[in-house]
Amino acid sequence: MYQLTGKRILLGVTGGIAAYKAAVLLRLLQQHGAVVRVVMTRNACEFITPLTMQALSGKPVHTELLDLETESAMGHIDLARWADLVLIAPASANFIARYSNGFAEDLLSTLCLATSSPVMLAPAMNQQMWLNAATQENLKKIIARGIAVIGPAEGDQACGENGPGRMIEPEEIASLAAKSFETNILSGSRLLVTAGPTREAIDPVRFISNRSSGRMGYAVAMAAVEAGAEVSLISGPVNLSAPDRAELINVTSAAEMYSAVMQKISTTDIFISAAAVADYSLDTIAEQKIKKSSDSYELSLQKNPDILAEVAALNSAPFTVGFAAETENLELNAQTKLRSKKLDMIAANQVGEDLGFDSEMNALTVFWGAEHKQLQKASKTRLARTLITLIADQYNEKNINKTH
Ligand code: CTP
Repeated sequence: MYQLTGKRILLGVTGGIAAYKAAVLLRLLQQHGAVVRVVMTRNACEFITPLTMQALSGKPVHTELLDLETESAMGHIDLARWADLVLIAPASANFIARYSNGFAEDLLSTLCLATSSPVMLAPAMNQQMWLNAATQENLKKIIARGIAVIGPAEGDQACGENGPGRMIEPEEIASLAAKSFETNILSGSRLLVTAGPTREAIDPVRFISNRSSGRMGYAVAMAAVEAGAEVSLISGPVNLSAPDRAELINVTSAAEMYSAVMQKISTTDIFISAAAVADYSLDTIAEQKIKKSSDSYELSLQKNPDILAEVAALNSAPFTVGFAAETENLELNAQTKLRSKKLDMIAANQVGEDLGFDSEMNALTVFWGAEHKQLQKASKTRLARTLITLIADQYNEKNINKTH
């Protein structure tokens, strides 16, 4: 059993009789939790109609590079950025030839050049075409660039011949797509993530909170699961479904988050504080609903414990990663937080339009020691995966240094 919860897959369909199987593949990917957008080449539309794929995916199918309507809804560069994985099934001999030479003459080949996400191809063609030296050379080039080529299978072909060239079955493609998200860089480690906002009660019906959606923290937890870690996620109130294979602990206030973290911390190797914890809470919470009897009303607040700083200050502190959401002076503020809270790493994001809070997309600058790395605007899922890779590198390095 595999799962693709929340993964954004751009399914590219090229011209070949196996194109009809792309409809089954689309359904399977969706059934396993993926969000799929379909791009079809002109030749693919000769074998299966965009309408079929549109009806199944519930989203407009993209066929043209310069189509005013689809470009205004989601331009080809946005589409390339949107994808967590570009999966091309079936990939024809012609497409493989164009891709290996870096052509960008139609939407799908352009997307393949424009994306920084992993690309996976499931070739399908006549066995002689597959065995042809030209195709084999093209494939070698593609594989050398880190593109995953899955299949083809051997057997009876639609053209009546028998040999290698049949697209592997949709079930196997979907399972390999899911596996492509999994690494083992954190296997054996125990990871604790906080996510979402906290709510500080004013009275039984009111509270102070913030715009955090929890998506970044949930994506980090998912990426850590995929990296083989044992993950616990302490979450403030969000509208997200529990990530598979992670322990979920729901909390409401900063005080609850603090005690949940402290209960877990002695068995934690890596602590990632992605929650937007309220800095202040009320001195006293009114027992009854406050009435609007006066013209003005003052709330008296007290500072909450800084969970992240307290964890980093522990004697046997885990590898500690903070987040910093900033509206100005990103680098300076992040560096200051890194040092003052004595963190191993901090991931800073500029809060702005379509970025950070309450958004699908984010961009991060990650700081550690004297180094930093810029992670360009991408989906939170993809950013989380890159962040987990950076964390794993630094965590493993620190552990090696400790044992020497
Ligand atoms: N954080 C925390 N506990 C708090 C406040 C913040 O653990 N009471 C953590 C957040 O999860 C985040 C980091 O500290 O990883 C930075 O949070 P941020 O709100 O950006 O910074 P603050 O330290 O609160 O500083 P300021 O609000 O002044 O920018």
